[in-house]
Amino acid sequence: MIIFRKGSEIKKYLADKRESGFQVGFIPTMGALHDGHISLVRQAKAQQKLTVCSIFLNPTQFNNPSDLVNYPRSNDADIELLLAADCDVLFLPDTAEVYPDGFDKVRSYDFGYLETILEGAMRPGHFRGVGQVVGRLLEIIQPGDLYMGQKDYQQCKIIAELLNIMSVSPDESFNASNVNLHICPTVREPDGLAMSSRNRRLTESQRKIAGCLYQCLVSIQAKKDIARFETVKKECIELLADKGITAEYIALADAHDLRLLDNYDTEVPMVTLIAAKIGEIRLIDNMFM
Ligand code: PAJ
Repeated sequence: MIIFRKGSEIKKYLADKRESGFQVGFIPTMGALHDGHISLVRQAKAQQKLTVCSIFLNPTQFNNPSDLVNYPRSNDADIELLLAADCDVLFLPDTAEVYPDGFDKVRSYDFGYLETILEGAMRPGHFRGVGQVVGRLLEIIQPGDLYMGQKDYQQCKIIAELLNIMSVSPDESFNASNVNLHICPTVREPDGLAMSSRNRRLTESQRKIAGCLYQCLVSIQAKKDIARFETVKKECIELLADKGITAEYIALADAHDLRLLDNYDTEVPMVTLIAAKIGEIRLIDNMFM
């Protein structure tokens, strides 16, 4: 695996590789890697891509400063995991490399409705930051394929929209219209908890109850033909509260455009999205219905 820290160097390296016929598959991450991240690397490798992973803890997407301070960092262990997965290239830039002209000079994208709901409503500015950094990384890496986890489903929708915007008004050196976005399945722990870098911050007793989020999603799915969504949602909020978990939202949406639904509608593809806090740790998950 070749490690690059400079945008100009990886850009040149990948341009040469593309010239020789390689297809670049890209997996952006913020590090503290686990099997969920590695599943994306495996997917790109399985599709014969020249597999590029980036690790960059992007300050502009943290609306809560203490979340950034406490975000786990484990570069050495991350590199070991990427080596074991046979990742080809790692981009490990510092902040000045991603934001050479400062945070304010980077192109900002307007995601409209998508950034006003759910995570967008709970974390103001978060998706602007995600859009900024992924936009920058795409300009540098210029992949043909982009691999992202369903675990962050709203983020996947934001990135799909980012690719649309970047296609309609492309940067002079990069047109996003040829990028294929792959939304890859959520990798879970044996009790159903979606793998997340933030899980490392759970205490042992918090970890024991964290599988409840998944149980809620399963029961919302299981009851789609026999109950009203509002009723099942209420049961879930109570179940979580009994364990000391605070639900921030449990929402049913059209999986296509994230339009929120009042009740199950089997005529449209549905997804249930959940965000909850266990102590200070905020976890999200979702499931297709
Ligand atoms: P991060 O949280 O590190 O996640 C990087 C990628 O891994 C995302 O596409 C995320 O959805 C995926 N992922 C995380 N947990 C997963 C799991 N359990 N199963 C499958 N995929 C999983 O998401 C970000 O970083 C950042 O916002 C980023 C896009 C890198 C921009 O900074």
